Amino acid sequence: MNKEIEDTGTVPDAETLMQADEEQLLDELGIFGDSRRRFLGQMAGVGIGALILQVLADEKALAFSESGTAPAFAENPVSVSFTVNGAKKSLELDSRMTLLDALRERLGLTGSKKGCDHGQCGACTVIIDGRRVLGCLTLTAQCGGKDITTIEGIAHGTELHPMQASFIKHDGFQCGYCTPGQICSAIALMDEARNGELSFISDDVRRKGGAITLSDDEIRERMSGNLCRCGAYPNIVAAIREVHTGKPTDAMAFHKLIMAEENDASV
Ligand code: FES
Ligand code: FES
Repeated sequence: MNKEIEDTGTVPDAETLMQADEEQLLDELGIFGDSRRRFLGQMAGVGIGALILQVLADEKALAFSESGTAPAFAENPVSVSFTVNGAKKSLELDSRMTLLDALRERLGLTGSKKGCDHGQCGACTVIIDGRRVLGCLTLTAQCGGKDITTIEGIAHGTELHPMQASFIKHDGFQCGYCTPGQICSAIALMDEARNGELSFISDDVRRKGGAITLSDDEIRERMSGNLCRCGAYPNIVAAIREVHTGKPTDAMAFHKLIMAEENDASV
């Protein structure tokens, strides 16, 4: 039993129970005085040391640097070269840095979102060599020589990708946080269907080759890794279905039509 509990019969607060190395870590983080007490109060009952170590590791790994050079305190720095949205990039970074963090913190491509950071929500989905991949579960060090496409590289200049246009037309988003991941996922999904790749609910698992026509259920199943907290699912499915039909989607024409209807109604 802790000596203080033995001597006084009272349970000391978290600060008293801290180990010297944990105190040092809090000092390094610059958490003193009231902030320190507040922090410890909030963290009571949690593995404090593990938490602080995680915060420190994240801070070090994420330190923003516009140059391709790793922050001075990066551990095990590695050099990686790849292509992002058609542009060649070379970075030196901490070997533990995820692709999502490298895109957002080192390359300033903040379109890919961090939702859960645990591979559960799909907000970080990007396309690597034509396949959809979760940026938060991919180490940047694994991406040498790869061709990466993020939401920023989907449109052609001012011309939206058909999937983007269709999401606008069908109102496939509300807050928009999940949307970059949804669109990247949906674009890669079109290729999977064209290549005849099967899903968990495919009727005929023995079929070989040939494009697959996706039912709404197939679209839902294949997009099940992309969560939407706003619940825009019916509209997302409608947007993907329209692109899957191959019919050109002209979102601007759609908006002009709406505007014209609104103008007519107000006259
Ligand atoms: Fe990557 Fe949620 S942030 S899956
Ligand atoms: Fe808000 Fe999907 S549009 S989370």
